[in-house]
Amino acid sequence: MTPNPAQAGEAAPADAHIDHAASLQYWNSVPANTPAMLAMLGNYPWYTRIDLRGSKTFLSKVRRLIPGCATEGKLSHGVDCGAGVGRVTEGFLSSVCDTVDAVEPVEKFTQVIRDSALKQSGAVGDIYTVGLEGWVPDKKYDLVWTQFCVGHVTDAQLVEYFVRCREALTESGIVVVKENLSTDPNGLDMFDEEDSSVTRTDEKFREIFAKAGFGVVLSELQLGFPKNFKLLPVRFYALRPRP
Ligand SMILES: C[S@@+](CC[C@H](N)C(=O)[O-])C[C@H]1O[C@@H](n2cnc3c(N)ncnc32)[C@H](O)[C@@H]1O
Repeated sequence: MTPNPAQAGEAAPADAHIDHAASLQYWNSVPANTPAMLAMLGNYPWYTRIDLRGSKTFLSKVRRLIPGCATEGKLSHGVDCGAGVGRVTEGFLSSVCDTVDAVEPVEKFTQVIRDSALKQSGAVGDIYTVGLEGWVPDKKYDLVWTQFCVGHVTDAQLVEYFVRCREALTESGIVVVKENLSTDPNGLDMFDEEDSSVTRTDEKFREIFAKAGFGVVLSELQLGFPKNFKLLPVRFYALRPRP
């Protein structure tokens, strides 16, 4: 007989607590400007500089590992998923891609991207006001960047999202995931009631990538954050479809 987790006294998995309406309510209560986005990232002005510089270095390494991927110059088409007000697009992706699309469920955040100079100049392309769970790509991308937002979708939704991303990659296209990691002493994913999100373990991420048909080409920790701030570890994963 299959044991019933409730009867066995086991807690429900962390992602069972995710409530999309509660996440959206939380994010709608956050002012739609870059300082507010920085506040979400710990309220440290230096954080974003280290973060963006680390992303640039990581992507350069990944491009050298992918057959057929140009190691110099801009990629053609990228997408910033869970884009917020476009912090990553403005500070990094627009310097490595000719055009960057944005996927973000909170309308007041996508409005900031819509009103930005990058949108006026054409560096930002299509803007989709939708969560990862509802986004169905209708074009091919050289780079799908997903940062600090996957905790808002369940494990099953995340697998489905990555399957759709895999199908939307160009021949040498790359998916990069950059996320906080769980530090739970029992090795479990952690649920945060404040924004109704889950912080996953490295093992869980790898399980999800494998289920979606991805292999990990390169994975590194983001280094450079001062240790005394006791921030969660941040890890990059570069993904390519498994042959
Ligand atoms: C910590 S912010 C990160 C924003 C941006 N990636 C950055 O690094 O500056 C988390 C973002 O996830 C967005 N979000 C909430 N629910 C989401 C969902 N279901 N799918 C995608 N993004 C979501 C929030 O609106 C918010 O903009």
